[in-house]
Amino acid sequence: MAVERRGAAIEIIGLRKEYSSGPDRVVALDDITLRIAPGEFVCIVGPSGCGKSTLLRILAGLTAQTSGTIKVEATGWAVENAMVFQESGLFPWMSVEANVGFGLMTRGIPTDEAAARVEAALKLVGLTRFRRHYPH
Ligand SMILES: Nc1ncnc2c1ncn2[C@@H]1O[C@H](COP(=O)(O)OP(=O)(O)O)[C@@H](O)[C@H]1O
Ligand SMILES: [Mg+2]
Repeated sequence: MAVERRGAAIEIIGLRKEYSSGPDRVVALDDITLRIAPGEFVCIVGPSGCGKSTLLRILAGLTAQTSGTIKVEATGWAVENAMVFQESGLFPWMSVEANVGFGLMTRGIPTDEAAARVEAALKLVGLTRFRRHYPH
């Protein structure tokens, strides 16, 4: 039986990232070319400062590359890509449920649908009764 390979296909060609210019210029990525097949599980390993976070931030759309191209083929997925940060990315002034629903709100998901999805996510991780608590 054929195994369905779920996930996005990613093609990165000739990616370059320079931070600032002139004497302070840092070349964080230089000519990165990489293809990732749907369902393939990839780890990017290297010493601190070699550009791992820069590559992931560009992939997530949080930083723009200096040159080169990225294609993400994610047909049928609700979100093309997402990034889970090393540190918790919570807003300390928002309740648990507001934090969970923030991404849906920024994408303009209708309130009823967002509430149902927040409910399901809280239930999944056992946080329903802490919904009105704050991250601390
Ligand atoms: N915002 C920035 N401005 C200037 N230099 C940066 C910035 N972010 C990262 N760098 C530099 O780019 C290089 C790659 O950093 P980074 O992608 O964070 O590496 P890694 O995640 O592999 O530790 C490092 O030399 C780092 O100091
Ligand atoms: Mg890093």
